[in-house]
Amino acid sequence: MKIAVIRGDGIGKEIVGEALKVLNAVSKKYKVNFNLNEVLLGGIAIDKTGGPIPQETIDVCKASDAVLLGAVGGPKWDNIPSNLRPEIGLLGIRKALGVFANLRPAILFPQLKEASNLKPEVLGDGLNIMIVRELIGGAYFGEKKRIDIPGGQKAWDTLSYSTPEIDRIARKAFEIAGQRGKKLTLVDKANVLESSRLWRETVTEIGKEYKNIDLQYMYVDNASMQLIRDPKQFDVIVTENTFGDILSDEASMLTGSLGMLPSASVGDGKVGIYEPIHGSAPDIAGQDKANPIATIMSVAMMLRYSFNMNEAADDIENAVSKVLDKGYRTPDIMREGKQLVGTVKMGDLIAESI
Ligand code: IPM
Ligand code: MG
Repeated sequence: MKIAVIRGDGIGKEIVGEALKVLNAVSKKYKVNFNLNEVLLGGIAIDKTGGPIPQETIDVCKASDAVLLGAVGGPKWDNIPSNLRPEIGLLGIRKALGVFANLRPAILFPQLKEASNLKPEVLGDGLNIMIVRELIGGAYFGEKKRIDIPGGQKAWDTLSYSTPEIDRIARKAFEIAGQRGKKLTLVDKANVLESSRLWRETVTEIGKEYKNIDLQYMYVDNASMQLIRDPKQFDVIVTENTFGDILSDEASMLTGSLGMLPSASVGDGKVGIYEPIHGSAPDIAGQDKANPIATIMSVAMMLRYSFNMNEAADDIENAVSKVLDKGYRTPDIMREGKQLVGTVKMGDLIAESI
């Protein structure tokens, strides 16, 4: 099993280091070999090769079975031309691998109930939402431009979707809903945006093939409110790229911290990308403060979706749960009476527990 490893920038290096520790523990326990290949992406690639996404990175990723990715970006690269920014590397590798479906599960560990900003009665006995975010279309990839006009400048980004692009992500979302609570909520802005209206028509049409799934529609402004008011009403959410980016950050806070949410990006091809939903957090980089759990849980998703190693994936999730049970907390989820640990210690504890 070949894995391309991209540490990236900021806390990316540290959290991927801890995830590899955990992968190593799995490798020993199950006597399987993971063939790791480290490649550059983002700011570090700009510094070392002059661009955010070297051809070698694309080649190695395409020749792998899965990609494990930390995070990219940082203030150091904020003032370079927009077509050379670190984020272009991230978007580029998603596009190159054709991973159109980004699965972002927001699961609340009962141990972290008190770390969530919501009242216990709103969270009930747990929370398990799956956000299915379209990942290689919409405003992120549409035509963008800036021109000079009298009085200043004008800039635009284009949000467009085609029927086939909506069709394939919708099917993915219906399939996932079928394996879970059988409820799918399409989040859009169909009262204003034409692209959203095409989403609604297309998803409704496909819904006729999935009669066992309860399909609901919700405007994105309402959805962002409902996530806080009554998150338990959601099972699977499917939505376009930008809305999914925003709503998944919001959903992460229901579970206590942005540092807890893993993700899997999959397409029709064989290579999946596994990465935490958070960014490179330059403000805490190199200080042993970052929570590695989102990346470690991304490894669990990799084992499950790319390698069919469900038992090993369970092991990782149980190990995280056990370590939380024992009271260990990184700063982002720290509460009174708990034991504060750093990035490395958290990784060690989870790996040992496997
Ligand atoms: C994410 C991140 C990225 C995105 C950024 C870093 C480009 O916020 O994975 O959610 O917007 O997709
Ligand atoms: Mg984001």
